[in-house]
Amino acid sequence: TINPSISSLFRHKTHAGNHLRRINSGLWKLKAVVMGEAVASGDDQLIFPNHDFAQQAHVPNFQTYLEMYKRSIGDPAGFWSEMASEFYWKKKWGQQVFSENLDITKGDVNIQWFKGGITNICYNCLDRNIELGNGDKIAIHWEGNEPGVDDSLTYNQLLERVSQLANYLKENGVKKGDSVIIYLPMLMELPISMLACARIGAVHSVVFAGFSAESLEQRILDCKPKIVITCNAIKRGTKVINLKDIVDSALSESSQNGVNVGLCLTYANESAMKREVTKWQEERDVWWQDVVPKHSTKCDVEWVDGEDPLFLLYTSGSTGKPKGVLHTTGGYMIYTAATFKYAFDYKPSDIYWCTADCGWITGHSYVAYGPLLNGATVLVYEGVPNYPNPGRCWDIVDKYKVTIFYTAPTLVRSLMRDGNEYVTRYSRKSLRVLGSVGEPINPSAWRWFYNVVGDSRCPISDTWWQTETGGFMITPLPGAWPQKPGSATFPFFGVQPVIVDEKGKELEGECSGYLCVKASWPGAFRTLFGDHERYETTYFSAFPGYYFSGDGCSRDKDGYYWLTGRVDDVINVSGHRIGTAEVESALVLHPKCAEAAVVGIDHEVKGQCIYAFVTPVEGVEYSDDLKKSLVLSVRTNIGAFAAPEKIHWAPGLPKTRSGKIMRRILRKIASRQLDELGDISTLADPNVVDQLIALADS
Ligand code: PRX
Repeated sequence: TINPSISSLFRHKTHAGNHLRRINSGLWKLKAVVMGEAVASGDDQLIFPNHDFAQQAHVPNFQTYLEMYKRSIGDPAGFWSEMASEFYWKKKWGQQVFSENLDITKGDVNIQWFKGGITNICYNCLDRNIELGNGDKIAIHWEGNEPGVDDSLTYNQLLERVSQLANYLKENGVKKGDSVIIYLPMLMELPISMLACARIGAVHSVVFAGFSAESLEQRILDCKPKIVITCNAIKRGTKVINLKDIVDSALSESSQNGVNVGLCLTYANESAMKREVTKWQEERDVWWQDVVPKHSTKCDVEWVDGEDPLFLLYTSGSTGKPKGVLHTTGGYMIYTAATFKYAFDYKPSDIYWCTADCGWITGHSYVAYGPLLNGATVLVYEGVPNYPNPGRCWDIVDKYKVTIFYTAPTLVRSLMRDGNEYVTRYSRKSLRVLGSVGEPINPSAWRWFYNVVGDSRCPISDTWWQTETGGFMITPLPGAWPQKPGSATFPFFGVQPVIVDEKGKELEGECSGYLCVKASWPGAFRTLFGDHERYETTYFSAFPGYYFSGDGCSRDKDGYYWLTGRVDDVINVSGHRIGTAEVESALVLHPKCAEAAVVGIDHEVKGQCIYAFVTPVEGVEYSDDLKKSLVLSVRTNIGAFAAPEKIHWAPGLPKTRSGKIMRRILRKIASRQLDELGDISTLADPNVVDQLIALADS
């Protein structure tokens, strides 16, 4: 049966069913839409799909969505089996398509999809598409940091490159189930490395190349890789970053701490740094170009179970230690393929560009796997979006005739600030679908993206999802229903979102609360690497019976979902997820820091930024130099993207009598909402608050 909260939305006079009536009866509105105008309806601004777009879309109207959605949750096994049968399975899965227990009160949390099915995701991305006749189609267009530097690979060529690396890995002892750390920037070698691991059943763990040596070391110690794949240096904008130095330091530290990685395969990225000046350890380091091309371009596939692990990706949580989110093969494959196809209305003629880095989940699911499973042509861009000027994105869009452009609100806001002329000087006529991910997109940025970038023609898929969910959970299906700027709209097939109050009671209709998901979906993560207990307590114990996302959410009178941001101790800076505890640990590693408390506050471009309260050790003077060196401690312990925006001196921190820091008060002080401090009488020492206020601008 259909989830009651959703079915009630569709039944109620004022809920989503209304859209159907509006769309069907509102011909005058459709006319306005054909002219590219947005239509105001009551207090919401509904942006209706363009008629021609809707007609050609995979899901052309709300009715079709409803039928598919009802089936997806009424008969998940049938629905997802059908989706899965588009792919190659050496052996079909067992009788049971899926099994699940999300209710911790009934035993261990356990999710399985396509268990017993034998397949390989690399085979499905490459060999299968080649067999379908796409061998000469471009799989990857690569655009370098410097304008004019580019490259491309067809599906045939990509398979050859992947096979050579896979053979090299096998020759060096990497076997099914072994982990491999990939620490690379957005070179073609990054997706090649991911696919090569998948081909031989190895578990890749990509570490974003902006993470510091300490963070890399932490991940090496956790997953004990057989090999680390990296490059000597990268160029981002005008900056050259010596990646190999970072890897050297991580590898030497990790070997002192008991994990000795004997092989570091290093791609010579000569445009950033010559081989000769790269520091080298003969017995451990090998140049990619010296060994990989010598291997055969054919490599047999290692067939794996649908539930065999595909990758580990570390993400931040509310404690200092990053969590190794584990995704398995079959369910993730079907889910990323289906979400990509429907949420972007993907067609074989599309040229698709996602600006995310493969170091994050967006790059895994929607630069590499989702698009390649669909046989798409993907653009991979090495550089930063505003180099050499803020028009670069649109220059690239015109150069490759990009049709689907998927990015983050922080980039939209920063380009918006640079002025429309950087956009309008380019044609952008090829664009037909836009996408947004990583944080809530504020309505004004949404409108700018829609009106200026998309010339009021292109629907925006504001996709809500997480590292843990593997793929889109709440997202518009372009063409199927009207959009509201800032709302991720409705759930994807198979997803049953629920909004609960703090007691875990499901709320109906128009409401606000905590966003949970009832029942599993194929792309769900299966565990936290090496710590199933943490998996259960973090995600399944707050509201037993549900997966708890950590996000707040409201649902409006029409049934549209509006994400409101994290409700736990996680900050979202420019779409990058950072745990307050991680930043605090990095600060207290500084010898002059006695204690630190970190909160997130609103930031015009980044969405949120990091604001740190720091208590120096006894006798240490406050100084700007100390502030700088504290920020440096975060940069070296986590990475530059986690650097605090502001250090606020704190002679003491507001704590309860039991010693718990009251972050609510710190957040108000940080955002200067001093008349909203609320009750401070439960503090062990209420005077701390006045001291903090007095030091606000020092
Ligand atoms: O708070 C939500 C926000 O990003 C978090 C997940 O971060 P991460 O695992 O790093 O994955 C980012 C890319 C999927 C969520 O808990 N978030 C992501 N997309 C949206 C969003 N918030 C609002 N709207 C979105 N479209």
